[in-house]
Order: sequence, then structure tokens, then C-alpha cells
Amino acid sequence: MKNSNKLIGVLLFAIILMLSGCGSSEKASNSAEPDEKKVLKVGTDAAFAPFEYMDKGKIVGFDVDFLAAVMEEAGYKHKLDNIGWDPLFASVQGKQIDLAISGITINDDRKQTYDFSIPYFESTHMIVFKEGTDIKSAEDLKGKKIGVQNGTTGQLAAEKVVGANNNISKYENTAVAFMALENNDVEVVVTDNVVASEYTKNNPNSKVKAIEDKDSFESEFYGLMFPKDSKLKAEFDEAIKAVIESGKYAEIYEKWFGKEPSVDTLLK
Ligand code: ARG
Repeated sequence: MKNSNKLIGVLLFAIILMLSGCGSSEKASNSAEPDEKKVLKVGTDAAFAPFEYMDKGKIVGFDVDFLAAVMEEAGYKHKLDNIGWDPLFASVQGKQIDLAISGITINDDRKQTYDFSIPYFESTHMIVFKEGTDIKSAEDLKGKKIGVQNGTTGQLAAEKVVGANNNISKYENTAVAFMALENNDVEVVVTDNVVASEYTKNNPNSKVKAIEDKDSFESEFYGLMFPKDSKLKAEFDEAIKAVIESGKYAEIYEKWFGKEPSVDTLLK
């Protein structure tokens, strides 16, 4: 008697499990709109103000707002995580994340391993140094103690002038490179122009200056970075174009940079 009760109980339980299983899977397939999309994993290195940086525990910046606009346009939800610069490249390559946004310059070397979106921002390099340091052009980098963020185009820009020599200290992120300048561990930092200007503006007490050198530092463009052959690239190219053309891009640009963008170079 007891045993058969138990058996019925187990059977009932199994039936309920099956039914509920069927029910939910049916619901899931019914509610799955043809264009319902997964939550995309996005990585960044949030020590690169004003593009991405931590503010009260949140990642904020131009890239963060731009990404949100593009995701909305493309119909995706996303989760943005601060994973650091070197891990960013490994994670995209290993497909642990779907894409990266981090003021990442599109260049031929990276294109061998990654796919990039169409460009969304034009950049060049600047040299940051303390007042009193003798720097008038990139040529003056020669013989100076140089700091860069490791594996950035700022490193490449400096190496192009002085060669890949030991005078270049390579830091894990740009904030640490600026700290090295502050502490006189290096005499100059070579980094992206907007980040350099933001730093000098935000640190008036550090008595730092930043100069451009149009003859030595070329212009370059940021893009979203995907694993090679990612199907997302085409969708996001469309979305970026739409965000730029709709004026949403200009809105975000003005919020962060206080002026209107010239979008012609991006769309050509
Ligand atoms: N644009 C430069 C590059 O791609 C520097 C980007 C650094 N970005 C960052 N979030 N730390 O190499």
C-alpha cells in the first residue's frame, strides 16, 4: 500500500514535470519573435576618459552612450563589462564576448585578426608633458622617457619617431601612464588627442600641456571590434550609419565634446 502510493506520487510528479516542461518550451517558441535577439556581451577598458571611464561604479563616456544608441538601432540588448585592454583583444578573439568598444583604432595589423565596423570617430595622437619640458614637436620625443599604454597606437606612434627602444615604458592602461607622468617616472605620454586634452583640462594642478604634431601623427579612426567573420558586423554597420544620419550621433557628441561633429569624413 505504502509502496504503490509512493509510485503514484512519483508518477504524478513526473507527469507534472513533463507537462510544465512542455508548457514552457511551447511558450518560449511561441513568444520568440523571428527578430528577438540575444543579449550581446560587450567589453571595454574603462580608463580612457572621455570615451570610457568609471564614475561612481558605473562605466560612462562617449563610447557608452554611442554603443547604447547603436544597440537600440540594431534591436539588441547588451551588457557592457570593464575587462581591461589586453584581455579585450583575447576575449574578442576567443569569442568570450561578442564585440568590444574602447576607442579602438582600426588598422591593418588588427584587421588580420578582427573585424571592424565602419568608423565612428576620427582621432590622432598628442604628446602630454609637464610645463617646462622641452617639447615642441614629435622630434623632441627622441631621448625623452616616454610612457604609453601597452599595445596601443600611441605606442606605435611613439615608436615610429624614436624606434622600438627601451626609452618607452608600456603601461597597462592610460590612467597609469598619466600617473607615471605625474610621478616623473616618464617625461611624456603619447596618447589619443581627445584623451590627452581631457586629461590636461581635468588636471589643472598637474601643470601638464598637450601638443599635436600633424606632420608626425596621422589621423586614424575608431571602430567596434568583432571576432573575425562575425555576422554582427553587417548589422552594426547599418545601425552606426543610421545613428550618424539621424542626428543621434551629433546629440551624443555634443553632450561629451561640447561641439558639433563633422560627420562627413565618417560617412564617406
Ligand atoms: N586608439 C588607441 C588604440 O586603439 C588607444 C585606445 C585605448 N583605449 C582604451 N580604452 N584604453 O590603440
